[in-house]
Amino acid sequence: MGTGVVSHIDTIILDSKYTENIDLCAGVIKTGGLVAFATETVYGLGANALDEDAVEKIFDVKGRPVDNPLIVHVASVDDIIPIVRNIPDIFEILAHKYMPGPLTLIMKKNSIIPDNVTAGLDTVAVRMPKHPAALVFIKACGCPVAAPSANPSGFPSPTKAAHVLNDIGGKIPYILDGGDCIVGLESTVLDITCEIPRILRPGFVTYNELKDVLGTVDISNGKGNSVPMSPGTKYRHYSPSTPFFVVTGSPDDTAEYICGCMDFNTAALVFDDYAFSDSRTVTFGHSKDHVTQASQLYDALRKADGMGVSKIYAQAPSEEGLGAAVANRMLKAAGENIIRLE
Ligand code: TXA
Ligand code: MG
Repeated sequence: MGTGVVSHIDTIILDSKYTENIDLCAGVIKTGGLVAFATETVYGLGANALDEDAVEKIFDVKGRPVDNPLIVHVASVDDIIPIVRNIPDIFEILAHKYMPGPLTLIMKKNSIIPDNVTAGLDTVAVRMPKHPAALVFIKACGCPVAAPSANPSGFPSPTKAAHVLNDIGGKIPYILDGGDCIVGLESTVLDITCEIPRILRPGFVTYNELKDVLGTVDISNGKGNSVPMSPGTKYRHYSPSTPFFVVTGSPDDTAEYICGCMDFNTAALVFDDYAFSDSRTVTFGHSKDHVTQASQLYDALRKADGMGVSKIYAQAPSEEGLGAAVANRMLKAAGENIIRLE
């Protein structure tokens, strides 16, 4: 964890559609402070990526383990050039297609990036977000912006300004409100330093899509020690405070199982087409609609967590396409609490 002390300050939510609000927040970043801002994936907690002391504050506010590196956000592909070295040929193809977009690329780092950004690794994660206000904000900062998701380490990511206020209000001066995050799940993390590009974290850009673009792609299964995975993936992640159980299998089977578990102390996350009339039920999209599931998952987890129950059960989606990323977050949130009906 970081070492500093975080004192209480009033946190103000500012609408990102006003230039003066963008400029105010950019001014905070330029002077070594932190600002939370909307991206198309989740809200980020930003600091000047070239300022070691500012980056240190991110770890303090989040309670983030110092061996978990941060993603560096830029407003243009050109701004990546000074940050990295040994740029592989496929960078151009990926940048052309996904910058801006919900894809983070791991490349060899240049020395201008402080070691605490990359947790001492010789690689750096870079992403150019697609949210228009995020791009205007980063450009106004005039520096690359290091930003993890704006939640306390281990908990669900924020997809609304109100989530950020709830989570880290009192610890940062401003939240740049760009509305609800359209994607709702963190970016796909792709390591392009290896011969065969490797997905370290599944996200909105799917395995099949990357395979179509690149020909071959590996996927880190988080096991074995020959290939390092995203350091962050080893920690507890995305978890509500309430014990969370994920049930995998056909939607018919998982719905039936969860119905059988319901009592006054239990909440359920179910697909729209399996909703049952119980006030402790939260829906998060149709069973076949992975795009809606992705955008609603974290809000649904937070709603269920706020119900004062002692257990939450959830239907896991099928792992096809974007379902793989949704299921990945749910299974990580559940930890050991996975009930497999297949
Ligand atoms: O969509 C997103 O990616 C959001 C928004 C704010 O851009 N950010 C985000 O950051 O999800 P964070 O810190 O919550 O997750 C970053 C992930 C972690 O799993 C971390 O371990 C991995 O990226 N990562 C960062 N730098 C890395 C590196 N050099 N090598 C491998 N993995 C890295
Ligand atoms: Mg995170």
